[in-house]
Amino acid sequence: MNDWTAGYMADIGYTYGYYRELNPLHARLAFLNSRLVPPERGVHCELGFGQGISANIHAAASCSTWYATDFNPAQAAFAQSLAAASGADIHLADEAFSEFCSRSDLPDFDSIGLHGIWSWINDDNRSIIVEFIRRKLKVGGFVYVSYNTQPGWAAMAPLRDLLTEHSEVMGVAGHGIVNRIDGAIAFAEKLFSTQPKYLKSNPTVAERFKSLKTHSRNYLAHEYFNRDWLPMPFSRMVQWLAPAKLAFACSADYLSQIDAVNLTAEQQSLLRDVPDAMFQQTVRDFMVNQQFRKDYWARGARRLSEFEQVESLRAHRVMMVVPRADVPLKVTGSAGEATLQEAIYRPILDGLADHRIQSLGDLEKTVKGAGITFAQLSHAVMLLAAMGVLVSVEDDELTARARRHTDQLNAHLMSKARGSSEIAYLASPVSGGGVSVSRFEQLFMLAHAQGKKSPADWVESVWAELSVRAQRIIKDGKTLESREENLAELTLQAEIFAAKRAPILKSLQVF
Ligand SMILES: C[S@@+](CC[C@H](N)C(=O)[O-])C[C@H]1O[C@@H](n2cnc3c(N)ncnc32)[C@H](O)[C@@H]1O
Repeated sequence: MNDWTAGYMADIGYTYGYYRELNPLHARLAFLNSRLVPPERGVHCELGFGQGISANIHAAASCSTWYATDFNPAQAAFAQSLAAASGADIHLADEAFSEFCSRSDLPDFDSIGLHGIWSWINDDNRSIIVEFIRRKLKVGGFVYVSYNTQPGWAAMAPLRDLLTEHSEVMGVAGHGIVNRIDGAIAFAEKLFSTQPKYLKSNPTVAERFKSLKTHSRNYLAHEYFNRDWLPMPFSRMVQWLAPAKLAFACSADYLSQIDAVNLTAEQQSLLRDVPDAMFQQTVRDFMVNQQFRKDYWARGARRLSEFEQVESLRAHRVMMVVPRADVPLKVTGSAGEATLQEAIYRPILDGLADHRIQSLGDLEKTVKGAGITFAQLSHAVMLLAAMGVLVSVEDDELTARARRHTDQLNAHLMSKARGSSEIAYLASPVSGGGVSVSRFEQLFMLAHAQGKKSPADWVESVWAELSVRAQRIIKDGKTLESREENLAELTLQAEIFAAKRAPILKSLQVF
């Protein structure tokens, strides 16, 4: 292991994920729904950006200024190549937190975000980050932090320790981390086949172990095989962040904000009887067996009056980003599957079906005839946003300014899609954030940008790319070997793309 890592897993690159919770516009709706003054947007910071997909997308798509660091130089170099392509106002360093956070040339920030960092670093680094937040977060600013928590990790934590211990003690130095991970997993399997009492006392572990094995080795290396790994209960987060004058604002996970789909009536009633808002979070974590929290914390959270909340929500603009026919009238929360009330959701979805940008105030007028109140409408909007059916929308002026940067970034990402499917996101100047776009969808768009107008032409072009690299499509786990099979599959995908996805990506100004 290299010595700049402080025990962090640096032998293998991290995955190319995008996290919408880091998008300041995403935070806006979360705050409004919780009746809190939404934070300002302007200058933002991300600590531990991984491959830098989120930071680059947000800088390009929202016309805001971003500063970010990740001490892995290979990842930082990759992230910088995206920044060079977009031309956005983003400053990416490969400095360790100790170095970056003590810099004297950084501005004050409207937000500081860290996704997948807090549980995987040591206390010294946590202290550095808290002190940085104390010094550099503006009053009224927010912090986004995600972390492993309890009680959700209670049963699994000993297995994680077993896997890392096996890797350290039994793993062969010089054989690489993937080899050590595979060895540790094989050993755990052997151990479980002896029916240990641990497995009998913790029946959920077998299922979780099964799903663990399906993850990429890059993900497992970073999630399970670091020297530092600490699931932290919410109450300890409160203590950790207090010196930075941070108070818990709301969950960044929209679905978690909706009690009706997560808690039974009895649990909601018990929670209402808990007078302390922080202890409520702890109790709630027991109710849902919380394993991973995504939280917004604010420096100086202020309540909105009911009038101010409704006024701000009426002005908030959204767009539907799923074809109307594909929206399920069902949602699954911690309490199980819930059916959405047709009388409320049908008129709202119909009103949004053309993928036009609409304010909640406009939508209120559209669905007035159906007898839907504004409270019902805003609740439904939050749930649909949680399901990924809706996104919040930027100001038109910001969208216009961001378009040049998103076009440049997207052209670069689509060009990378010719060789690999690793990056499945593009940037939208409309939502100020990332949109999930598969490799073949990106290649169809690339063909379109190169002047190929019809789906049949896109298919020809994509097939040419695949043929050059001797690649074949894998469908349902089976490789399609013949040219005809590949062309048939590409044609199907191109037609679906043209009919369903292209109109939405156009509305999002990605296509
Ligand atoms: C689990 S990954 C999460 C990456 C990214 N936030 C994401 O979710 O895609 C943690 C990242 O933190 C970086 N990191 C860990 N310790 C660090 C430190 N002390 N200073 C700077 N970066 C660090 C690692 O290089 C890694 O990319």
